[in-house]
Amino acid sequence: MHPNIWKPFTIIKGAPESKKVVGGDGIWLILDDGQRIMDCISSWWVNLHGHCHPRIADAIYNQAIELEHVIFANFSHHPAERLAERLTHLLPGDLERVFFSDNGSTSVEVALKMAWQYWKNRGEARKKFIAFEGAYHGDTLGAMSAGSRSVFTQMFNDLMFEVEYLPYPATWLDDQNAGKKEDEVIEILEKKLSENPEHYAGIIVEPLVQGAGGMRMCREDFLQKLHWSQRQFETLLIFDEVMTGFGRTGDFFACQRAQVEPDIICLSKGITGGFLPLAVTVCSSGIYEEFNTKDPLATFWHGHSYTANPIGCAAALASLDLLYENEISFRQMETIHLDELESLARLGIIEKERVTGTIAAFNIRSEDKSGYLNKIADRIKEECIEYDLLLRPLGDVVYLMPPYCITEEELRSVYKKLGTLLKGIE
Ligand SMILES: Cc1ncc(COP(=O)(O)O)c(C=O)c1O
Repeated sequence: MHPNIWKPFTIIKGAPESKKVVGGDGIWLILDDGQRIMDCISSWWVNLHGHCHPRIADAIYNQAIELEHVIFANFSHHPAERLAERLTHLLPGDLERVFFSDNGSTSVEVALKMAWQYWKNRGEARKKFIAFEGAYHGDTLGAMSAGSRSVFTQMFNDLMFEVEYLPYPATWLDDQNAGKKEDEVIEILEKKLSENPEHYAGIIVEPLVQGAGGMRMCREDFLQKLHWSQRQFETLLIFDEVMTGFGRTGDFFACQRAQVEPDIICLSKGITGGFLPLAVTVCSSGIYEEFNTKDPLATFWHGHSYTANPIGCAAALASLDLLYENEISFRQMETIHLDELESLARLGIIEKERVTGTIAAFNIRSEDKSGYLNKIADRIKEECIEYDLLLRPLGDVVYLMPPYCITEEELRSVYKKLGTLLKGIE
């Protein structure tokens, strides 16, 4: 471990030496010893078009020599305005107002604060959020509070606010109980909402895929049922699409794939194609109007130094262009995942195979039920480097989430290597 660096999400004692990356080239990362490893997880789910894509690099350079940054309170600039216009055009329904921040956690903080204050501005004191078991919304205190409690959050229990959890109706291929699980969740939800309709500020959910919680997937039907109930009982629906946004689920956004219009959506990660930190929280015009007043108390007092950084916005605009040009790549990946998972499943060592768009996941059959801390994750993480692959299992859950520039041949080769690797680990 470098003597001056403290690594994220790392148990310090016994941590293996980090591999040093000296370059990126499309799907490949180049290590200092010359080895090229395939980035099968898009470097924590941010990279969309491959590393060092020249179009995004050019956009960043051109913006940096024109305007690198400016205070965004009483000033504005073209890249932010263009990005806000394009995003609101692309998003469904009434999602019209874009609030910029820096990362996924802040986009969630903004959403929670916005929803909370929306009700206050309307003269209602709604006291609780509804969230899902297994959820992960980030590491700042508010985002952490909305997430599921785990070993990550345990030390901060006294600092967090309480939310009410619903089970997440996680499903997989050939799951016969998906509809039943969904109905049970909706029943619990409707009981809560009907018994105490003015208690809930909003429902926050990772639509279609819960990421860090283990790539747990739910059906579009569930989101439609959730939406219907939420509309009946008039609370806000917040979609945390920090991971699922920008093509990940096989459509531009999970809300489009599910044909659901949330009141607030959080976007980050892929927004700049994986080049720069940037995030947005987009809300409906109805929410915005509750803040559209001269009253200082009803104002949304939130902002960050790098809000709407022009270079980040320029990268996001270039990434959006590439997304449109290469739409087919993220739309067709699901078919390849499905095909290859079927073969992998024949090995008999995996279960609960699941796919949504560009994301494929499965569990390793194992007696060890320690979840995220399952030792098999470390073994796979170490051994996959010998196969020139970058993987980072979540406990016993192995997943693939490659950049969209991966070719069909490359993706199929990943599954082949994975099969050999897993057989060796059995
Ligand atoms: C769904 C979701 N929300 C929020 C976050 C937090 O994003 P960040 O790590 O950029 O703060 C993540 C990160 O993994 C995420 O997957």
